[in-house]
Amino acid sequence: MRNETIAIHGGYEVEPTTKSVAVPIYQTVAYEFDSAEHGAALFNLEVEGYRYTRISNPTNEVLERRVAALEGGVEALSVASGQAALHYAVLNLAESGRNIVSVPQLYGTTYTLFAHLLPGFGIDVRFAESDHPAAIEQLIDGDTRAVFCESVGNPAGNICDIEALAKVAHRHGVPLIVDNTVATPILLRPFEYGADIVLHSLTKFMGGHGTTLGGIIVDRGKFPWEKHAARFPMFSVPDASYHGLVYTAHFGAAAYVARCRSVYQRTMGSVLSPLSAFLLLQGIETVAVRIDRHVENGKRVAEFLRAHPGVEWVNYTGFPDNPYHALAQKYLGGRACSLMTFGIRGGFEGGTRFYDALKLVKRLVNLGDAKSLACHPASTTHRQMSVEEQRKAGVTPEMIRLSIGIEHADDIIADLEQALQAAAGRQKESLSAGSQRRFSRGG
Ligand SMILES: Cc1ncc(COP(=O)(O)O)c(C=O)c1O
Repeated sequence: MRNETIAIHGGYEVEPTTKSVAVPIYQTVAYEFDSAEHGAALFNLEVEGYRYTRISNPTNEVLERRVAALEGGVEALSVASGQAALHYAVLNLAESGRNIVSVPQLYGTTYTLFAHLLPGFGIDVRFAESDHPAAIEQLIDGDTRAVFCESVGNPAGNICDIEALAKVAHRHGVPLIVDNTVATPILLRPFEYGADIVLHSLTKFMGGHGTTLGGIIVDRGKFPWEKHAARFPMFSVPDASYHGLVYTAHFGAAAYVARCRSVYQRTMGSVLSPLSAFLLLQGIETVAVRIDRHVENGKRVAEFLRAHPGVEWVNYTGFPDNPYHALAQKYLGGRACSLMTFGIRGGFEGGTRFYDALKLVKRLVNLGDAKSLACHPASTTHRQMSVEEQRKAGVTPEMIRLSIGIEHADDIIADLEQALQAAAGRQKESLSAGSQRRFSRGG
């Protein structure tokens, strides 16, 4: 089936007891055992079934099967947020004394996790100078356990050359982890280009309505853990924390996600609530049609901004002169994401005036909602970074990030136009007030 169909039907067979067509919300913590023997068999993984919702839940499982199918993976683990997905995905590969190598263009809290939190656990994150595969390769050594990138960087909008990054990672015997939040599997399926692990903040375009936090880790099921057992013994030696389980022997191609669930989800517990899984499934049903509209509206808005005299620059990969245009053709089929950044004339102050004048477009830190959203990364999502770190992450002081929604494009443009006019008007007013003051002082 194609992704438009999988998004609606994937992972769910009509439930036999009630014949409920909508996915039921299994709002339960635990599941009754038939007997002591049955309970023991479930714990020994000898029979299939549920024990406790921190480990698995039937509603969450539909979401996991659906997103795994959309991405073309073998198995997935849903978690409470995109950040939890990032955290587990890395911990599942890199232990103390090891490192991962990352592109520098990252979502701000991912940068914080990598630069400030993981080193405290003894995991070093090496940030490459750029997203160029050669810059990544330079930093890989015998202790590297993964290469990490965002397929489309937030907010930089850069598009990573996943095929080349996967080749580099595999040459050194490590997997490539891709955060596919901004692109979604509707625009890009990283597994088709050799990525090994894909993760998402489902909070964004996938859920699509700004109501529900969630994250997911998807396993392609192709990385040869046993071949690289010296580097990744955790998958092929008996796990003392799970009475001697060997993940590759028991779960085969799904060993990575199975270990993530049995070790990290079970003990650290960033669990997605079944109600949230249901709400995210509702959102995912329409992701393909929403993305079509996001892309269409994004193009109209980018063209409007580019032609506007109050706008200094627009970073939108749909423009042929954008440095990532060729990669947008290859990886996004020429359908540039509706996440874009621009710089207004008047620098930081111009940006603030524009931001304050918005009426329809919401001022907040989120992206991928049906609503159009605006954010000022330098003062919010990327605030913890130094100016130099911001520059490497693709953030400048005047930059406004727009996540264009699915309202009528004319209404979005009308709001941006009035905000640009208000910013320019007030700029003129403050200039003339300034000159009046100077004149009255005899200047
Ligand atoms: C690319 C990317 N990854 C991960 C996250 C974190 O997701 P969440 O807010 O669901 O924890 C975000 C949040 O904005 C993001 O933009």
